[in-house]
Amino acid sequence: MAFRSSLLLSQILFLFVALPSSWTSATSTIQQTFFRCLSTNSMNSIPLSTYYTPNNVTSFTSVLNSTANNLRYLLPNAPKPVIIFTPLCEAHVQAAVLCSRRFGLALRVRSGGHDYEAVSYVSQIESPFLVLDLARLRSIQVDIRRGTAWAQAGATTGEVYYRIAQQSRVHGFPMGLCASLGVGGHITGGAYGSMMRMFGLGVDNVIDVRMVDSKGRILDRKAMGEDLFWALRGGGGGSFGVILAWNLKLVNVPETVTVFTVTKTLEQGATKLLYKWQKVAPKIDDRLYIRVIIQASSADLTANRTVVTSYNALFLGDPDTLLRIMGKRFPELGLTRADCVKTSWIGSVLYIAGYPNTTAPEVLLQGKPLFRNYFKAKSDFVRTPISVKGLLGLWKIYLQEENPFMIWNPYGGAMARVPESATPFPHRYGTLFKIQYVATWQDGTQSMARHMNWLTKLYNYMGSYVSKNPREAYVNYRDLDLGMNKKGVNSLAEASSWGLRYFKSNFYRLVQVKTRVDPDNFFRHEQSIPPLPVKRGR
Ligand SMILES: Cc1cc2nc3c(=O)[nH]c(=O)nc-3n(C[C@H](O)[C@H](O)[C@H](O)COP(=O)(O)OP(=O)(O)OC[C@H]3O[C@@H](n4cnc5c(N)ncnc54)[C@H](O)[C@@H]3O)c2cc1C
Ligand SMILES: *[C@@H]1O[C@H](CO)[C@@H](O)[C@H](O)[C@H]1NC(C)=O
Ligand SMILES: *[C@@H]1O[C@H](CO)[C@@H](O)[C@H](O)[C@H]1NC(C)=O
Ligand SMILES: *[C@@H]1O[C@H](CO)[C@@H](O)[C@H](O)[C@H]1NC(C)=O
Ligand SMILES: *[C@@H]1O[C@H](CO)[C@@H](O)[C@H](O)[C@H]1NC(C)=O
Repeated sequence: MAFRSSLLLSQILFLFVALPSSWTSATSTIQQTFFRCLSTNSMNSIPLSTYYTPNNVTSFTSVLNSTANNLRYLLPNAPKPVIIFTPLCEAHVQAAVLCSRRFGLALRVRSGGHDYEAVSYVSQIESPFLVLDLARLRSIQVDIRRGTAWAQAGATTGEVYYRIAQQSRVHGFPMGLCASLGVGGHITGGAYGSMMRMFGLGVDNVIDVRMVDSKGRILDRKAMGEDLFWALRGGGGGSFGVILAWNLKLVNVPETVTVFTVTKTLEQGATKLLYKWQKVAPKIDDRLYIRVIIQASSADLTANRTVVTSYNALFLGDPDTLLRIMGKRFPELGLTRADCVKTSWIGSVLYIAGYPNTTAPEVLLQGKPLFRNYFKAKSDFVRTPISVKGLLGLWKIYLQEENPFMIWNPYGGAMARVPESATPFPHRYGTLFKIQYVATWQDGTQSMARHMNWLTKLYNYMGSYVSKNPREAYVNYRDLDLGMNKKGVNSLAEASSWGLRYFKSNFYRLVQVKTRVDPDNFFRHEQSIPPLPVKRGR
């Protein structure tokens, strides 16, 4: 059914370009009547400048593209929405929910557009669909006296960091390393970053929320109750409602912090060092976060290449204390005072995000990523150290790819102290670190299959070294290889294939909440939480 209507609609949209104007008006009817519905259902008037349809290809393409982070999903064959609506206020969002429901028009919600599989702006299972793009709902109010902030869904992580730092050198918030993530999608999936070992995830530090539910009502924490509030803090985006804003509890950071990056190649003993890191990094002082970025020394497959491991770190303290800790716990890395860069917390945000050290913090207000790729990524959680033999086998596969990319991210500290069921994010006590595997390329479809196959091969190899039953994965690193809701008809069995990996047994509680708050499954996508089937009377 969904497929049929998709064909029809795309034919129509295609045809109207070449046909007489009587056709044009007939085919733009959905778009016109939907706009009228929005206008009559919103308390605040809706300017035409918030409403985009393929009738104006230039502006439509440009707004679709604006935050689409994975170029793979901008290729011409990726399904396109029939309408993009960019609300300016909460009432506009309520109207969009009411009208989508009334028209039976599938709705996708986009905040920062960083979804790895683009479910916020591409539907592979239903057509036609509308994109509700919250990019213009991005105000941030920091209350330093209370130590809290409200951030609207379309604000980026970088903007939130900037606005906090503007008011205080000793406050921060623990969420993503990348500055262009939308807090709307990012925080619903967990939100980890360089302060996670000290303060946990973004979701561990959220105190309130505003959300539009499937009936178009605005709910805060008190109105929605603790069950739904629990589900929003890690259950993943797009399943329960439209997050309008998060209320964040700020954390205290020192006025000066220390960052460093130390790089080792295979020839410099990278394998043994990485073996040791697995035992040290998850157990070391909570203030110290040392991730490992793993790449190849050159993109030329015919060159004499090696694996390059970069130990990229934030210490919430001064260099003297850091050097003392490292000397005792991880002397093999050979950290020196010259490696240590003293900076402010906001300076560490820029450093870890990868900006050159001359960059002013105002760059964070642009809300733009440093670069965009065609990419595919997967994730794993590791509970026992991977042997040297395992690492040597990994390098063999690794060097078969032009631009292989992995990040190993240490857990422990605050992450291990939060109980597994406290939030839907279950990867807590006993997790040593998370691996993210990424394949990137720049030539569109040309080399795509080769890179995707390489990533699958790497993931298959790693299977025997990582968490099992289930093999866990991070919902914010969405991976459609793990399964999909088919044709918009969700079933528990189908969804368990990814649900148990992302949430372990918290998945069942998420299903319960979903069944209660959105029984007709209005908020749905390729990997949304399914409701239990409606019980029929006898
Ligand atoms: C370059 C890059 C770096 C990253 N770095 C990190 C990192 O350091 N730490 C980390 O934890 N993650 C990281 N991620 C993953 C990131 O957290 C997720 O991709 C996250 O979902 C992005 O949120 P978004 O709003 O930008 O994305 P979107 O694509 O807009 O949305 C993601 C999902 O949430 C839903 N959604 C969006 N807005 C709302 C809303 N307002 N209400 C309800 N549902 C909504 C969407 O429908 C979709 O399902 C990174 C991703 C990228 C591409
Ligand atoms: C299409 O949109 C652009 C940008 O908003 C605008 O400048 C242009 O006039 C529009 N074109 C038409 C034909 O409406
Ligand atoms: C999308 O935007 C980027 C950067 O602004 C640009 O390079 C690219 O050509 C655009 N792609 C499409 C399909 O419009
Ligand atoms: C390849 O490079 C490594 C160091 O980077 C070097 O030790 C080795 O001799 C080189 N091999 C060849 C065949 O050039
Ligand atoms: C920036 O880094 C360069 C080397 O990478 C260094 O020489 C310079 O002193 C740094 N500048 C600041 C302001 O830290």
